[in-house]
Order: sequence, then structure tokens, then C-alpha cells
Amino acid sequence: MTPEISRLMTAKRSLTAPIQEHIDRSIDDLLTSLPNPEQLSADERRGIIARYTAVLEGNFIYWMTAAYLSVASPEAQSVIQDNLREEVRENHPGMLRKFAVAAQAVPTDSDALAVYQNLESIRQFVGRLSAIKIVLMMAFFEGFITRFMPYFAEVAKRQGSAEYEYTDVHGPRDVVHSHELFGALHAEMTLSRDPMPPVQDLLEGVGLLRTLIHSIVQSGVVERRTP
Ligand SMILES: [Fe+2]
Repeated sequence: MTPEISRLMTAKRSLTAPIQEHIDRSIDDLLTSLPNPEQLSADERRGIIARYTAVLEGNFIYWMTAAYLSVASPEAQSVIQDNLREEVRENHPGMLRKFAVAAQAVPTDSDALAVYQNLESIRQFVGRLSAIKIVLMMAFFEGFITRFMPYFAEVAKRQGSAEYEYTDVHGPRDVVHSHELFGALHAEMTLSRDPMPPVQDLLEGVGLLRTLIHSIVQSGVVERRTP
């Protein structure tokens, strides 16, 4: 390895740590902003589950596929391929649909409309097939999903549901997925000969997804002061 490549690798490794910290903070912020399930009306609970379903049922595998098509390193390809295989083989979209049906929260036209603009922004973004940015967005997504599951299950329980396969499967396993995606990110950064853009640019997809998740959990939910 030439000194130049070695220097680049060190610089890129030191880049992933602050990015991971930023992503962890974004997840913390999203979780602290969640409305208290005790104070949600039945319609608000239904809306959160329905909008989440409207977004993830048909898009998670699509966005992970965009990540797969955009990466070039064998490590990243292998991590993402395993992830996709698990999604398809275990029928995760079907699990989510069952979860929504049992919680009487099947998405309607107005649920789809509430997330439409923010969803479209991500579709435009993933269409550019920018490897590092998409892998970062998906690492953030997996990290958020795993920490959101207890809340999601609680909201469904309050809807009278006892169907938890989706939330059970996505709890612990997505911690591993998120961690593996940071490994994929590092492999992509190491492979890239181009100078890295500023961190804020790399976090473009994370920002878009954060806005989308905010609209999933907050649209139509009345703000209440917690005593
Ligand atoms: Fe899944």
C-alpha cells in the first residue's frame, strides 16, 4: 500500500465516526419527539401505524435495492444482498401488512397523501444511485427502526392488537443490520479514490428520511404538553 492510499484510508476511517455520532443523535431526537402513546387518540394511533405502513411496505426493499445497485465494494454488496435476501425470503412486507390489519390501521388514500411529498423527495434522491449517501440513509433507517419497535408495538397494543411478529423480528436484528451497514459504508469510502464531500452533503439522504419519518409520526397528531 502506498503512503498516499494509507493516508486516504485513515482520513476516511476518521470520517465514519463523526457520521455515526450524528446519525445516533438524529435517532435520539426523533425518539424523544415521539408523542406519548397514552395521550394519543384512537385515530392518531391508527394514523401513525398506517403512514408507517404506507411508507415501508412498498419502499424499504426498493431503497435497499437502490443501495445494492449503487455500491461497488464486495463487502458492501454482500452485506446488502444478505439484507435483501432476508427481507424477501421472510416476507417482511407481508408481516407489516398483517401488523397494520390487526391494529385496524390499513393505509388509506389520505395516509398516502400525508407522506407523498416527503416520499417523493427520497425517490428522487435514491434515483441518483449515490452509494455512500444511500448506504448512510439505510444505516440510519435500520438504526431508527430497531429503536422505534417498542413504541410501535405499544401503539398497536393500544389499538387492541396482539400481532407482534413484525416488531419482534425488527427489534434486535436491525441493530446488527445497522452495524453491518456502517461496515459497508467504510468499505465504500475506502474504495472511493475521490475526495470525500463535506459531511453535511453525505448526510443528504439521512436528512430527507428524517423529515419523512417526522411526517409519519407527527402528521395529524395534536401537540399536547406532557405534565
Ligand atoms: Fe424488514
